[in-house]
Amino acid sequence: GRVAVLMGGTSAEREVSLDSGRNVLEALRARGVDAHAVDGIPALIDALRGKQYDRVFNILHGNKGGGEDGVLQGALEALGVPYTGSKVLGSALSMDKIRTKQVWISEGLPTPKFVRIAPGSDLRAAAASLGLPVFVKPSCEGSSVGVFRILADSDLDAAEAFAAIYAGELLMEQMVQGDEFTVGIFGDLALPSIRIVPAGEWYDYHAKYIADDTQYLCPGLEGDDETTIRDLALRAFRAAGCSSWGRVDVMRDRRHGFQLIEINTAPGMTSHSLVPKAARQIGIDFETLCWMVLETSVD
Ligand code: DAL
Ligand code: MG
Repeated sequence: GRVAVLMGGTSAEREVSLDSGRNVLEALRARGVDAHAVDGIPALIDALRGKQYDRVFNILHGNKGGGEDGVLQGALEALGVPYTGSKVLGSALSMDKIRTKQVWISEGLPTPKFVRIAPGSDLRAAAASLGLPVFVKPSCEGSSVGVFRILADSDLDAAEAFAAIYAGELLMEQMVQGDEFTVGIFGDLALPSIRIVPAGEWYDYHAKYIADDTQYLCPGLEGDDETTIRDLALRAFRAAGCSSWGRVDVMRDRRHGFQLIEINTAPGMTSHSLVPKAARQIGIDFETLCWMVLETSVD
């Protein structure tokens, strides 16, 4: 049947999604799939009314525009159209870092201490209660958009200016001192971990998509440590009600061990992105990966 590769949309990650989407489209076509680009949810819904597509490969990133946050997934459930990625609950929960962490904590899974910052509430009081250094980030964004690294009190000024104009909830989280990892998830399988070594201070938007100076080590760990991180990522993914495929970001604190950061239910598929690197490590090339993800839309 015909496959819609849903990309673009209206979130802050639009450009990333277009990049991911073009790669997926090309890979599926190379595999003989009758795949077509669709930009954004309204265009998709129009096309589905006309019964133009039998399946959706969802590579929208982010919340506004609904692609990764459960809204699209609900519409596709209602229309009875199969799609890639997590269902309504896993998508909605994972888009919200605060509630994801609450679920992990209730399951006894490790995640850095944090404070929920409702719009208009006081960042300085939160910083005083957690102790610096911390990260401040929107609960529902991706690709490090709107993330502030607070090492000293003076760094709070920029975060406060952002908070004053940002309508959503923010999360203030204790900064993990240690290494950064990510684990791609594919059905019941955790892919080899990747250790991310940014050239600069941290793995921000620039390091993610623009610069070419980040080092990626895969597998990121050896022996029992590698088994442990994969197992933790899989448990975190399941605890959040996720399925199909995704990516769990994990850090390893020098004193407190592995700490779960967040889940991405429509992980990037750009040339810089991580799941394709992990798949390649076990002999799955990009075209095959896209094909396998598409296959998860049939349950
Ligand atoms: N949010 C970006 C696309 C990622 O997780 O890869
Ligand atoms: Mg993310």
